[in-house]
Amino acid sequence: MPAYAILGAQWGDEGKGKIIDYLSQRANIVARFSGGNNAGHTVINDMGDFSLHLVPCGVFSKSVTNVIGNGVVVDPDVLIEEMQALEKAGIDISHSLMVSERAHLIMPYHVMLDTLAENRRGKQAIGTTGKGIGPAYSDKTLRTGIRAADILDLENLKVRLESVLPYTNAILEKIYAVEPVTTESILEKAANWKNRLGSFIKPVGRYVNDVLDDGGTVVLEGAQGILLDLDHGTYPFVTSSSPTIGGAITGLAIQPRHITSVLGIFKAYNTRVGSGPFPTELFDDVGESIRTVAREFGTTTGRARRIGWFDGVLARYSNRVNGYTSAVVTRLDVLDHIDSIKVCVGYKLGTDILDEPPGGVAALEKCSPIYETLEGWDIPTAGISDLSNLPTNARVYIDRLENLIGCPIDIISTGPHRDQTIMVKDILTP
Ligand code: GDP
Ligand code: IMO
Ligand code: MG
Repeated sequence: MPAYAILGAQWGDEGKGKIIDYLSQRANIVARFSGGNNAGHTVINDMGDFSLHLVPCGVFSKSVTNVIGNGVVVDPDVLIEEMQALEKAGIDISHSLMVSERAHLIMPYHVMLDTLAENRRGKQAIGTTGKGIGPAYSDKTLRTGIRAADILDLENLKVRLESVLPYTNAILEKIYAVEPVTTESILEKAANWKNRLGSFIKPVGRYVNDVLDDGGTVVLEGAQGILLDLDHGTYPFVTSSSPTIGGAITGLAIQPRHITSVLGIFKAYNTRVGSGPFPTELFDDVGESIRTVAREFGTTTGRARRIGWFDGVLARYSNRVNGYTSAVVTRLDVLDHIDSIKVCVGYKLGTDILDEPPGGVAALEKCSPIYETLEGWDIPTAGISDLSNLPTNARVYIDRLENLIGCPIDIISTGPHRDQTIMVKDILTP
């Protein structure tokens, strides 16, 4: 004990990477539990600026073991590249990385199928990252997936591929009219993966639980956010995994009793990449200025992020599903230049007033936000690390968000650097 779950509380890109890096300074393990290289987690500290997609954000803290859990889908080529890039930057993770033998692998045909399916969806496209995430999780569910352990035994992998590839190839050829993949081409790649990654593939579930039983501290690294969750998000405009608290438990096989803190990471406003409903989306100059000031472009795909006011209805829902013990608000400084700030406190749907989002995406599209307007602040918050220095109106704004989310805001982030952080309450000290 204890495990701290760090969860995206909106549509992803809330600044989880920054907060995980900050908290990992006092952790024994940082463990990713879901998603794949659709994630892009930015860490800025005294070692440099980094964008991590698969490798957990604990790699910058000495004596942290970084675990990729069974719930993650791993593109082996991307993992190898990321490890090499870190090595070049002087971060050696050869002794601190573990990959679950049960993690599913993103195969080259998953990446192909992701793009082919998106093109076929036309106007109904989800706007996926094109990294093969959906097809890899689909194969997992169909029980035709390839797991990390499978590349440790190439003879057996051949038998497995000969069983699963005919179905995949039928889809590639008959539905999409593209060339099939050969068992040999995959086996050739797998030999390289085994060579490069074999020593990292381990039974991590047992290791993480043993560390917890011995009193160690584990940071559970979430990817994406609740509104992209396969069950609880704005389906079908979601990812194919569970970024919520349940995903943390199944994605690492840890015992729920170990999770003492559930941190919901919120931006001080809302963003979304890809398609799907976004009730508080801004289409005016304010949205554009936030995008420009905050450089709101995707860490993984470089796409412009859609921008909107803070949505209190979705925030309350997020807390109801995940049960946060603390909320974290990031990017407060981005609002420094705005005179009047709106927050959504309810939805209007026809004649009804809603305090929780409807489950159906069509109904959510029809919801119009009810706004409250708060005054901006005159002194910039950028870089403030002491709560007493926050301007009064920024405190008022934080208090309002706290009230809407329904749990204490224990960390406020005022800049991308590790040090630009206000610890309202030291959540790491029991
Ligand atoms: P993640 O996917 O949740 O880890 O978030 P991303 O890294 O994709 O996007 C968050 C962006 O916000 C990154 O560019 C971070 O460097 C940046 N960031 C995080 N916290 C703050 C903050 O408090 N202020 C500012 N200005 N930028 C922040
Ligand atoms: P992090 O961990 C923001 C979005 C994609 C798309 C949808 C489905 O950096 O917060 P997928 O490739 O997963 O099938 O795409 O999910 N998406 C993210 N948006 N941050 C992420 O991760 C995301 N991961 C996936 O843009 O709308
Ligand atoms: Mg991101």
